[in-house]
Amino acid sequence: MSGHSTYVPKSAFGRWFESRLPIMGLIHSSFVVFPNPRNLNYLWTFGGILAFMLVAQIITGVTLAMHYTPHADLAFASVEHIMRDVNYGWLLRYLHANGASMFFVAVYVHIFRGLYYGSYKAPREILWILGVIIFLLMMATAFMGYVLPWGQMSYWGATVITNLFSAFPVVGESIVTFLWGGYSVANPTLNRFFSLHYLMPFMIAGVVILHVWALHVPGSNNPTGVEKKTEKDTLPFHPYFTVKDALALVCFIMLYMWFVFYTPNFLGHADNYIEANPAVTPAHIVPEWYFLPFYAILRAIPDKLMGVLAMFGSIAILAFLPWLDTSKVRSGTYRPVFRVFFWLFAVNAVLLGWLGAKPAEGLYVVASRLSTAYYFGYFVILFILGYVEKPLKLPASIAESVLGKQGSANAMAASAAAAPNTKG
Ligand code: HEM
Repeated sequence: MSGHSTYVPKSAFGRWFESRLPIMGLIHSSFVVFPNPRNLNYLWTFGGILAFMLVAQIITGVTLAMHYTPHADLAFASVEHIMRDVNYGWLLRYLHANGASMFFVAVYVHIFRGLYYGSYKAPREILWILGVIIFLLMMATAFMGYVLPWGQMSYWGATVITNLFSAFPVVGESIVTFLWGGYSVANPTLNRFFSLHYLMPFMIAGVVILHVWALHVPGSNNPTGVEKKTEKDTLPFHPYFTVKDALALVCFIMLYMWFVFYTPNFLGHADNYIEANPAVTPAHIVPEWYFLPFYAILRAIPDKLMGVLAMFGSIAILAFLPWLDTSKVRSGTYRPVFRVFFWLFAVNAVLLGWLGAKPAEGLYVVASRLSTAYYFGYFVILFILGYVEKPLKLPASIAESVLGKQGSANAMAASAAAAPNTKG
């Protein structure tokens, strides 16, 4: 998964260890000398931010679990206990709850970056599909986590979403009973959701390792979408990208901390501070913001089964994108017509999110249907566009796009001159 294997352990112990488990060499070739395109912009820092958020969620989550009680009679009170009695428990909980939101902010930027620059195209299809699997696992994890405080939204959100499976013919009801562990959302449901919510981040971590492995085979795509050809197209990962990633991470953490310390409940729903009550249905059952576009698609379709299929289909279709987008040119920068449809798709996704929070009635339903149609239509448009669009002229190389023709020739000369000294 690597660049050059130039790692030489400094100590005798290091050499002894490395000859038995060459892990430092792997880290060195993957994250120190790894040749990255020199023109990566700040949108390429979000993978690192996501890795940080995954670790942050695991650390805060494991600590919260030390004080939380996964029982329907005690869960709500145990969360209040964390908030009021446990030392810094309020901080842990706000870090974890807002951390989930920030994780989704980062993943949406990461996904849209990939969509714009065509990072899903060959040879990065498996990398992209692993990303879609991570996204699905993230959604399942977040959904189950939201049930744990056992507030009104936890309870009713779980009821609505698990009930969707009943739309499947023949096996639907049995699937729902199986998910619930009974005949309604109740203590067995909470138990299994807690268990799975604890397990799944580690599954995500496993898939992330495959994701980064698959990334390191071709290396990163870049804003031009032109593959790296020679050494002058790249810079070593350290210090250039470690520093850039660190700066972006600090800025991201500042935004995250702003939510945690200044408005920790802004992204949550007030009803989740009311204990779950199976006898009282809230006026509006709204999922967390990051699920809203998919919720809008679900409700846009009048038929329950078709709605469920459309909702799952809206994520599944992403996995086929490498083959649905027929254009040979990767980056949106060189695709003037694609760009228009891409930005429409982005605005449409936000619109779907807004509609997902509105009651499913009147004009909102009409708008949701049009938005859903465009969501799926986008993939058809991409298919056709590859055949009809005339892309702009691509730069000959990454170096040329950064340094211009002359600069790139100078860099070539400089690296040729330096070459005898750097070999070996
Ligand atoms: C826990 C979640 C995730 C983590 C930790 C993660 C991690 C990373 C890292 C470290 C990189 C390299 C740096 C960068 O390009 O930003 C990367 C690249 C990439 N990721 Fe992810 N990722 C996650 C989720 C996703 C998802 C959900 C998708 C798509 C559905 C995705 C698609 C991609 C693609 C296509 C690239 C290559 C981008 C390029 O080279 O242009 N990732 N990821």
